[in-house]
Amino acid sequence: MKLLFSQPAARGNDAWLAALRAALAAAMPGVQLDEWRPGLPPDYDAAIVWAPSQQLVDEQPQLKALLNLGAGVDKLLALRLPPTMALVRLEDAGMAVQMAEYVCHALIRFFREFAAYDRQQHEQRWHPRRPHVRSEFPVGVMGLGALGQRVAQAVQQFDFPVLGWSRTPHDLPGVQCFHGDGGLPDFLKGTRVLVCLLPLTPATRGILNRQTLEQLQLASYVINVARGGLLVEDDLQQLLDEGHLAGATLDVMQDEPLPPGHWLWTHPHVTVTPHISAQTVRSEAVVQVVRSLQALQRGETPSGQVQRDRGY
Ligand code: NAP
Ligand code: GLV
Repeated sequence: MKLLFSQPAARGNDAWLAALRAALAAAMPGVQLDEWRPGLPPDYDAAIVWAPSQQLVDEQPQLKALLNLGAGVDKLLALRLPPTMALVRLEDAGMAVQMAEYVCHALIRFFREFAAYDRQQHEQRWHPRRPHVRSEFPVGVMGLGALGQRVAQAVQQFDFPVLGWSRTPHDLPGVQCFHGDGGLPDFLKGTRVLVCLLPLTPATRGILNRQTLEQLQLASYVINVARGGLLVEDDLQQLLDEGHLAGATLDVMQDEPLPPGHWLWTHPHVTVTPHISAQTVRSEAVVQVVRSLQALQRGETPSGQVQRDRGY
């Protein structure tokens, strides 16, 4: 088997190549792994990638699979790919616990008004604020996959009521589950802190818009840790300025990096981070990638294989 490796250089490619080669030598001796560059012979079988170029795909007509070094596959599905090519993504791989800590931090920062206490400290003002009632802050998690389920569990540990919304029905202990278009209005109506962990697909693009966000309870809070394309930023701005929404924490934006001067940088009720809520953990990713390659070699479907027709 001949494998290619390609991801943006900022992700530390030498360390990735060394870790992947060591794991492959131990588990799949004889497999060759090369870093992609234009003009390589067109005889590679699969590629291990994050944000690969269209040129890579076009130059390698024998590729049978792309193994994605992340959970979301929206960038891969935006490429022109042969219809039978398998796409395999990372499942959790150390990202779920990071999502849980990021979301709990944002939720608790909002619920306990820590931004206000930061300002008070700056002003040297000693002013205990009246505590909120936890039951009035139900947390709604959109997307109950590998990451959303872990987030829902983590939030429950702080005794917030938890709702969940997914495409197909789920039954999760302690989570009031809704699904499909029919379940969305009741899910939104019951939610005060909305956490988005949906994949970006044709069905979910722009799903956080005026019409849906308006259905949230008054003074709701939005946490988007999935993809920027899920949120209509202009609608968010209007609802914040009208006071229907109390604030937002956004780890992902329509344009990344967020351009200098963008309103999101300076809005008093918005916290932004540079797409770091859950970063790929190399050691765990390498184990999953090798396991997926072994499954493909045996002619089996790896557990993280994407259903291309549904987009995730
Ligand atoms: P996943 O396991 O594939 O779960 C996706 C969830 O979304 C599933 O519960 C699915 O429903 C639901 N869903 C999909 N389409 C839907 C629709 N049209 N309506 C309602 N629900 C829908 O994905 P994951 O591993 O949890 O990751 C979620 C996303 O997080 C990724 O796609 C990626 O974009 C993002 N992410 C962001 C970062 C970051 O650092 N910001 C890091 C990792 C991942 P079913 O359960 O019914 O299938
Ligand atoms: C990161 O955004 C991922 O999808 O893994």
